Amino acid sequence: MNATLRERAAALRQAISGAARPSPAGFRAALDSVPFADRDAWVDAVLGLTSIPDDGPDLPSGCVPYLPCPVAAVQEAVDVARITAADVVVDVGAGVGRAAALLHLLTGARVIGLEVQRELVEAARSLEFLHPAVAIIHGDATALEALAPGGTLYFLYCPFSGARLARLLDELEPLALRRPLRLACVDLPLPPRPWLTPVDGASGAVTVFTSAASS
Ligand SMILES: C[S@@+](CC[C@H](N)C(=O)[O-])C[C@H]1O[C@@H](n2cnc3c(N)ncnc32)[C@H](O)[C@@H]1O
Repeated sequence: MNATLRERAAALRQAISGAARPSPAGFRAALDSVPFADRDAWVDAVLGLTSIPDDGPDLPSGCVPYLPCPVAAVQEAVDVARITAADVVVDVGAGVGRAAALLHLLTGARVIGLEVQRELVEAARSLEFLHPAVAIIHGDATALEALAPGGTLYFLYCPFSGARLARLLDELEPLALRRPLRLACVDLPLPPRPWLTPVDGASGAVTVFTSAASS
């Protein structure tokens, strides 16, 4: 990333931290003006995410270590799932909160990130300038009480698969039967559930589902 882009990232970070936080459309325009190959590094610079802690012993066996979701996949999830400021997004397995922050800045939605590794939650403190719109909470996302039952959209960048994923869907089902919710998944095939309907328009790594109760 060249010096001009670094300066633009620093200026935007300052604007977000102060009174001049850009609208979702303004943030999107700023992001789209960055050359595609530089967007991931540029977002890291805007968010002040310089170093990533190693995964620790509190990552349960069978769960996926921290890897930041590519910016392009987050943007596609936002577009296909039509996430807006009216949503409450839950990032299941939030790492240091990078995707959570991006989801908020691109949409205006409140975002709750659930992360099982305490060190990553502590690293997410660099995002305090986005509080309270973005909050990263420590806990195992497969426990319903941790699952942020007020969510309207659950974002999953491959935190786990197999029995854990099946359990998460079983926990979400009664919520989905009470009110509409959506799931946006990246690199994560879901086991079929009768209450989940795939949404058209996604390609590649992103898939989006609505619950049967969604309009
Ligand atoms: C592939 S990373 C995704 C990070 C983040 N969503 C992003 O896109 O930047 C998966 C994350 O899920 C977390 N994770 C794995 N199992 C979890 C669980 N049971 N509860 C909460 N977080 C979990 C891992 O620690 C890791 O940070």
